[in-house]
Amino acid sequence: MELMLKDKNCIITGAGRGIGRAAALLFAREGGRVVVSDLDEAPAREVVDEIKAQGGQAVACVGDVTADGFAEKLIQTAVDAFGPSIDVIVNNAGYTWDGVVHKMSDEQWEAMLKVHITAPFRIIRAAAPYIRDVAKKEMEQGKRVTRKIINISSIAGLDGNAGQANYSSAKAAVVGLTKTLAKEWGPFNVCVNTVAFGFIETRLTQAKEKGESIKREDKDVAIGIPENIRQMFKAMIPLRRAGTPEEAASAILLMASPLADYISGEVLRVTGGL
Ligand SMILES: NC(=O)c1ccc[n+]([C@@H]2O[C@H](COP(=O)([O-])OP(=O)(O)OC[C@H]3O[C@@H](n4cnc5c(N)ncnc54)[C@H](O)[C@@H]3O)[C@@H](O)[C@H]2O)c1
Repeated sequence: MELMLKDKNCIITGAGRGIGRAAALLFAREGGRVVVSDLDEAPAREVVDEIKAQGGQAVACVGDVTADGFAEKLIQTAVDAFGPSIDVIVNNAGYTWDGVVHKMSDEQWEAMLKVHITAPFRIIRAAAPYIRDVAKKEMEQGKRVTRKIINISSIAGLDGNAGQANYSSAKAAVVGLTKTLAKEWGPFNVCVNTVAFGFIETRLTQAKEKGESIKREDKDVAIGIPENIRQMFKAMIPLRRAGTPEEAASAILLMASPLADYISGEVLRVTGGL
């Protein structure tokens, strides 16, 4: 069987760890050329090395997706490495900064909007010449190439989650961006979808008691979920377990693959039935 992403130029943000990492490895195994982008240099470079060791093609792009000019740098990295057509973008980079509404600071609120919705918007806008404009020219020549944009959301964005008003609002906005772009770029053969995860076992959802944090400018933001809440979530999931990063990545690959070439503007819930 032909590889599902043969010769496709792909960008995955937040690909140094967790779901993004698993997606980068899977995409490369399916023949995709991957820009592995992450805030943290070492994990991003490790993923690139792993892909290359398996005979795949990958390049790292290190930086904060919320930084001014980062979207342009990311797109330029892809174009310089793989050529002036971008076939798949997975907007996956993100983290949580939890707090109840009455104690949430403006900074905390805005940080979530920046990383989960403004950054994907800027990346998509910066990619327009290599997606929309390229497709327009191809169509004039009678060619049809299907391209994909996959924006990662969460069931928190669809159903709400106490303590995550900032994250839930930003992840809900991802759905609006997805559905609008599906309408704007559909005529250019671009399928735009959201994959919304429930509970996937990653650094983001590991026990908060492990004390992991993400560096944000001048402060460390604690990430993770208290162990008792993790157990409660698992008990609520019909499959009675969290998903693995590889299972999450498979859903992203499904949307990126030709199997989903007539699916656009949708939200795929990947939750083990939750
Ligand atoms: N794990 C889950 O259960 C779950 C559920 C729903 C949604 N999600 C979403 O899936 C995506 C991936 O999360 P994960 O669980 O793999 O987490 P993770 O922490 O394992 O990986 C996220 C990666 O994104 C990077 N990142 C974070 N902020 C960044 C920034 N500003 N710029 C560039 N890179 C940045 C991190 O360095 C990290 O390597 C996120 O958007 C998250 O909100 C995860």
